[in-house]
Amino acid sequence: MSDLVDFTKRGAVGVITVNNPPVNALSVGVPQGIVEGVKAGNADPEIKAMVLVGGGRGFIAGADISEFFNPPKEKAVTIFDVLDALEASDKPVVAGVHGNALGGGLEVALACHYRCGVASAHFGLPEVKLGILPGAGGTQRLPRLIGPERALPLIVSGDFVPADKALELSIIDLVVAGDITSGAIDYANKLVADGSNLRRIRDIQTPKPSSDAFFADFEKSIARRARGFLAPFNIIKCVQAAVDLPFDEGIARERELFDECMKSEQARGLMHLFFAERTCTKIPDVPKDTPKKKIDTAAILGAGTMGGGIAMNFLNVGIPVTLVERDQEALDRGLGIIRGNYENTAKKGRITQDDVEARMGLINASTDYQDIAEADIVIEAVFEEMDIKKEVFAKIDEIAKPDAVLATNTSTLDVDEIAAATKRPESVIGTHFFSPANVMKLLENVRGAKSSKETIATVMDIGKKIGKVPVLVGICDGFVGNRMLHHYGREAYKLLMEGALPQDVDGALYDYGLAMGPFAMGDLAGLDVGWRIRKRKMAELGLNRSDSPVSDELCERGRYGQKTGAGWYRYEKGNRTPIPDPEVKELILAESEREGMKRRTITTEEIVQRCMYQLVNEGAKILEEGIALRASDIDVIYANGYGFPRYRGGPMFYADRVGLKSVYDTVSKFYDEHGEAWKPAPLLKRLAEKGETFNAQNPGR
Ligand code: 3HC
Ligand code: NAI
Repeated sequence: MSDLVDFTKRGAVGVITVNNPPVNALSVGVPQGIVEGVKAGNADPEIKAMVLVGGGRGFIAGADISEFFNPPKEKAVTIFDVLDALEASDKPVVAGVHGNALGGGLEVALACHYRCGVASAHFGLPEVKLGILPGAGGTQRLPRLIGPERALPLIVSGDFVPADKALELSIIDLVVAGDITSGAIDYANKLVADGSNLRRIRDIQTPKPSSDAFFADFEKSIARRARGFLAPFNIIKCVQAAVDLPFDEGIARERELFDECMKSEQARGLMHLFFAERTCTKIPDVPKDTPKKKIDTAAILGAGTMGGGIAMNFLNVGIPVTLVERDQEALDRGLGIIRGNYENTAKKGRITQDDVEARMGLINASTDYQDIAEADIVIEAVFEEMDIKKEVFAKIDEIAKPDAVLATNTSTLDVDEIAAATKRPESVIGTHFFSPANVMKLLENVRGAKSSKETIATVMDIGKKIGKVPVLVGICDGFVGNRMLHHYGREAYKLLMEGALPQDVDGALYDYGLAMGPFAMGDLAGLDVGWRIRKRKMAELGLNRSDSPVSDELCERGRYGQKTGAGWYRYEKGNRTPIPDPEVKELILAESEREGMKRRTITTEEIVQRCMYQLVNEGAKILEEGIALRASDIDVIYANGYGFPRYRGGPMFYADRVGLKSVYDTVSKFYDEHGEAWKPAPLLKRLAEKGETFNAQNPGR
C-alpha cells in the first residue's frame, strides 16, 4: 500500500483514507494507494462495502497542479485507473467528504457508487480557473447525475457549492452529522443492509435539456465575459457531448478538448497565477511563524468612496468597525452608501435582509476620534493631503491602544513621512485598497522603512481574512500598480497624438483581453481627478501646459467622463456604452498637428506592444529597485487590481512567454524611435542577454 493512502477495517467496512497534506492532491502515489485499497476491500470476504475519505483538512482537492509541469518520469498509476477501479468494484464504495472535494477529487467521488458529506463540505470543478476542464470524466458524469442545465453553469463558473446545495442538486446522497469517517461507515452499513445496488453514473442516460437552444443560448450568455478564453467554450462542447454521445465516446471527446486546453498558453498563464497568488503571501524576511496581532475590531477614518468600501470588507466577515467622520452629515452620507450597497446585494438575492441588518449592526458610527481607542487596527482613508494625513496620524497616535496597527490607505503619499507623525512608526503601514474597495480583490500593503515584521505579518494575514489578495510592496510614487499604469496611460496618449483614436487603442486592448482600455477606464473613473492633480503640479512648477492637453481640454469643456455624459466618448442617458465622438477626434487632430505630428495608421499589434511593454519595462525597474519582491507579485497585482486578463498570467508572465529577447529588442527599437520614455530597464536587458525569464520560481513559468 502507498504510504499516502491507508486501508483499515471497521467491522464490515473497508476504510480507504488519503493522507497527502496539505490538501490531499492526487500526487503520484495517491492513485496507486486508492486502487490498492479498492483491491484489498474486494479481496477480503469479511468486507461488504468501502468508504473513501480524506485525512486532515479535507477530501481531495484534485490533481496535483505542480505535476502538470513536472510529470513523473516513470509510468505511474493514474486517476483514470482509480476511476476504473472504483466503478468496477463489486462492493459498494461510498465517498465521504469533509473540507473540499474539488476537480479530480470530485471526479473520483463521482466514480464512487454513493456520496455523502458533512454540512461544512464543499464541492466543485474549478478546473476552468486553471484554463483547463475536468479531464477525468467530470464533464460526462456530472451532467448524467444532475442534468446538463444544472451541471454546465457549475463547471463553467468553477464555483464551489456547500453540502446542503450539493444535496439539493443530487451531487451527494446524504449529509451526515459528526465525524465524516463514522458517518460514511454508518451510511455504507445501511446501504449493505438495504441491499442497495451498485449505482454507476456512467450507466445513466443524460437527460436532454428542456430547450433545443440551451447550449447556443448558454454560449451567448458568456460570450462577452469569456471572450478569447478557450476553456469555457470547450466545456460547453463536452457537456453537449454528454447529452449526444454514449459514455465512452463522451470521455474520448472530453480528453481531446482537455488536451487542447492543457497545451494552451492560457492554461500556463492561469496556473502561473494560481501559484503566484499563493507565493505572494510569503515574505522572505517575515517567516510564517512571525507573531501576528489579533484583529477582532477595526476603526476606519473617513467614510468616503474608499472608507465605506474598506469598512464593508470587515463587516462581511463579522469584524465590528468603528467608522469615524468629520461631521454627522458626512457620516450619514457614508452610512447611506454602505446600506445602499448591501440593499442592492440583497435585492440580487446574494445576501438576506437579515444579513444586511446584521452587517450594519456591526458599525459603530462616530464623529469622535476617542472611539478608535479600542480598535486592533485603525485604517485612515481621509483626503489625500500630506498635512491632513500627518495631523490625523498624530491624533491616532495619542488615542489608539499601544499594540494597534496603524494603516493608511494613501495612494500617492510617502508612508514613511506619515509614519514619522507618530511615535510608533513600527506600527504604521500602508494598506492600499482599490476602488471599489468592497469589490476589488487587490490589496497592496506598503511596507515603510520602519514597519515591524509583526505589523507586516498582521496586515498580510488580515488581508486574506477579509477576502483580498494581499501583495507586499515598497514605497515609491504610485507604488507598483499605479506607477506602472502611469507609463501605460502616457503611452496610450502618445498613440493618440501619432495617429490612433481612443476607440482604436481601447479596442485593441479590449481584444487583448483587458476589461477595458485606458480611455474607457478614464471615463469610468472620472477625468477630473487627474486634471486637478495636473493643474496643481503645473502651478507648483510654473508650467502653462500639462503632459496631457487633450484630457485637460475635455475637462475644461465639462467632459469629466461617464458621470457628465461625455469624456473621451459620449454616452446616451442611462447607458454606459462609449460612443466615439467627432468632437474628441477634432480635438485630438488639432493637438496632434500643434505637436507637429505626421499622423499614420497604427496597427493593433503596435498598440498592444506599446502599451504592454511600457508596463513590462517599468515592472522590470520596479523589480530591480526591490519595490516588488518578485515578478509574479506584479502579475498578481495586475490580475487582481487592473482587469488584466487572467488567462495571460499578468504582464511579466506575458513578457516571459513572448520571450525577453524579443521584448527587449522591441523596447530598444521603440527607444530609438521615441526616445527616453523607452529606455530599456537594465534588468530586462540582462535577462534578455542571458536568455532568462522574470518568473523563474513558479512551476507555471
Ligand atoms: N495541486 C498542487 N498543490 C495544491 C493544490 C493542487 N491541486 N491545491 C492546493 N495546493 C497547494 C497550494 O499551492 C498551497 O501550497 P503552499 O502552502 O506551498 O503555498 C497549499 O496547497 C495550500 O493551498 P491554499 O493556500 O490554497 O490553501 P487554502 O486552504 O486557502 O485553499 C483549496 C485550499 C480550496 C483546496 C485551494 O488550494 C484550491 O482551490 N486548490 C486548487 C483546487 C483545484 O483547482 N483543483 C483542480 C485541479 S486540476 C484537476 O483536478 C484536473 C482533473 O480534472 C483531471
Ligand atoms: P473621499 O473624498 O471620497 O473621502 C474622504 C472622506 O474623508 C470624506 O468623507 C471626508 O469627509 C473624510 N475626512 C476628511 N478629513 C477627515 C478627518 N480628519 N477625519 C475623518 N474623516 C475625514 O476620498 P477617497 O476617494 O475615499 O480617498 C480616501 C483616501 O483613499 C485617499 O488617501 C485616497 O488617495 C485613497 N485612495 C483613493 C482611491 C480612489 O479610487 N478613490 C483608490 C485608492 C486609494
